[in-house]
Amino acid sequence: MQATAEAHPNIALVKYWGKRDVARNLPAVSSLSVTLDTLRTRMTVEFRAGDRDALSVNGQAAPGMLERVSRCLDSVAGKERSAARVTSDSNFPIGAGLASSASAFAALVVAANAASGAAHDRLALARLAGAASGSAARSLYGGLVELDAGDEQIDLVPLAAADDWPLMVVVAITDDNTKSVGSGDGMIRSARTSPFYSSWLAQQEDDLSAAREAVRNRDIGRLSEVAEHNCLKMHSVMWTSRPPIVYWNSATLACMEAIRGLRAEGHAVFFTIDAGPQVKAVCLPASVDAVSAALAETPGVLDILTTGVGCGARRIDQ
Ligand code: DP6
Repeated sequence: MQATAEAHPNIALVKYWGKRDVARNLPAVSSLSVTLDTLRTRMTVEFRAGDRDALSVNGQAAPGMLERVSRCLDSVAGKERSAARVTSDSNFPIGAGLASSASAFAALVVAANAASGAAHDRLALARLAGAASGSAARSLYGGLVELDAGDEQIDLVPLAAADDWPLMVVVAITDDNTKSVGSGDGMIRSARTSPFYSSWLAQQEDDLSAAREAVRNRDIGRLSEVAEHNCLKMHSVMWTSRPPIVYWNSATLACMEAIRGLRAEGHAVFFTIDAGPQVKAVCLPASVDAVSAALAETPGVLDILTTGVGCGARRIDQ
């Protein structure tokens, strides 16, 4: 009745921003992401006698997140399940725009599936993780993955395995505090108030097909162009929401400038930024040292994390 699973966060190169069904947490747009390897969340689920679930995150009780976790456990193991003790441990800052909810819910569904003996397959687990946090569905898979928003339910399409295209991701941490507006609330606000939201939805298919083709051809130049465009378009929707959602700080902008400078020197590298001020630089292995060095010396950068492409969520205790 106990199992431990590990999952990695993923970074979207074509972003998910907007929900078409808030109650079922279905995304309004399809997205495309890369799963990371060095960053990870380990999650242990133990079903036991008792009447209450308990959650500890990095060694501390986390009652604020318990309701979302309990609902996700119900979806995997059924509402008649026993109470669960859930222990989560991440080796990177959580709630700071580094996709910690993606790795957490991906690891949670795998651990709960094994501990309860529910026997859902990977796609079913991805859908359950996605119902808890949209981006978590993608972390069930490794490498480059497309999440198809679908009609009734989401679908996941692996585009390249972890070893197929050895991209590197250098994460520049510019602030490790918890973000001011959670992504879920931010998306709902953008859909209601941003005048750019409808064009965001209308153009997503074009960005996806360009990115899909760039992945198929292992064309980092083409991927750079569409990923930076898609990222800036998502942030334009955020900025033009009311009240505005601005996750960037001055170091975020300085990192973007540093990455453009590296590209001008001939490095194959591009940036992407999610619901937080951290900058993720995606590059080829030949450029990783230059990218890490340039970002490390950019004013306002507190720390650098370097990672390759990783595998999907899996059980690790057997
Ligand atoms: C900006 O998956 O955290 O990182 O479904 O409400 O939990 P919820 O949202 P979440 O949103 C991720 C938003 C993003 C872009 C992306 O990862 O595609």
